[in-house]
Amino acid sequence: MFNNNTIQRFNDTETPFYYYDMGVLRNTLDACRDASSKYGFHVHYAMKANFNPKVIDMIQSFGFGADCVSGNEVKAAVEHGFDKGKVVFAGVGKSDKEINLALDADIFCFNVESVQELEIINELAKAKNKVAGIAIRINPNVDAHTHHFITTGLDENKFGINAWQLNDVAETLRKCHNLKFLGIHFHIGSQITDMEVYRNLCTRINEMQDWFEDHGFAIKILNTGGGLGVDYYNPDTNGLADFESYFKVFSKFLNVKPGQEVHFELGRAMVAQSASLISRVLYVKNGQKKNFLILDAGMTELMRPMLYQAYHSIQNLSQESRIKNQDKSEIEHSKSEIKYDVVGPICESTDCFRKDVDLPQSYRGDLIAIRTAGAYGEVMASNYNLRDQVQSVYSE
Ligand SMILES: Cc1ncc(COP(=O)(O)O)c(C=O)c1O
Repeated sequence: MFNNNTIQRFNDTETPFYYYDMGVLRNTLDACRDASSKYGFHVHYAMKANFNPKVIDMIQSFGFGADCVSGNEVKAAVEHGFDKGKVVFAGVGKSDKEINLALDADIFCFNVESVQELEIINELAKAKNKVAGIAIRINPNVDAHTHHFITTGLDENKFGINAWQLNDVAETLRKCHNLKFLGIHFHIGSQITDMEVYRNLCTRINEMQDWFEDHGFAIKILNTGGGLGVDYYNPDTNGLADFESYFKVFSKFLNVKPGQEVHFELGRAMVAQSASLISRVLYVKNGQKKNFLILDAGMTELMRPMLYQAYHSIQNLSQESRIKNQDKSEIEHSKSEIKYDVVGPICESTDCFRKDVDLPQSYRGDLIAIRTAGAYGEVMASNYNLRDQVQSVYSE
């Protein structure tokens, strides 16, 4: 992914920073659009994954909708030119201020997560003499077979409405004249690569839509949420999420009736591979049992490993370019790998990107790339320890 010119550019740039490969982003969006449009599916980009302005501008230019989880995301979607008729708003705790903002923006649909929320949206819409489009987020109790920190569709999660509460939902919908019921919404978790999980989700969606129709509610949209995973281990050789298999499962197993639309809310799969966090080795600490590479990036720039025990591939770019420029005997020598704990500078012992990483011998000043950092990376950066805000660099 990184040629000599790019590495030279990194050498001349203050670290740490996110490097966005806009070509990778474009190819990914192309693949997603091709695979979904085959079936006439509607894709909303889950802005929570990355709201870097250049990234969302490119996503918007492809005609995708936006899936937002805060009032400010709704505002950003509108400001960046997303069609308001393609903006959906989810979230277990929407404030009155956020609901009012979304009502004023005339968004397409609120994905509603509780009976009480239905009543509040109805009340606020009534005060504005508006009708809010809504979908009911149902908890399908489908196991996503992903890390338990990023599973959302089980009964014990805080998200969504459980099946046993649907009678209350139906009763409330009948009373709320400022709500327009559009359909049902699901989201079972993230980083899911097992297509069997989506097949199980389809089965549950089919059952749920039967329930609503049996109770007199016509369903226009089936929103299956997001969750498609990427390959964090092989970003160069397997850089594209498997959009083809993913959309195919839904086309095959979802019972789509005439006039219905199928909607998706993909985040990670659309942006993860387009960025790397580029950092420099500040210090090399050789211990008796452990060697540490202390980087100038830490959990303030990329939180995923500390928050979800997430894996990221780590590369020493300076060593790779040294190898390219050396003679053969030196190459053999420099190929020998050492195990390092790759850690950040933050005053927290959890500030570790990975333990026992096999890397070539590394030195102060070496450039380190932490790959597949385009999703849930820059958006979670913080100023903890009064750190500088992380910068972004773009390939074009
Ligand atoms: C409601 C909802 N939709 C979509 C997404 C996007 O998920 P992913 O990035 O895994 O595709 C999320 C993320 O957690 C979400 O909460």
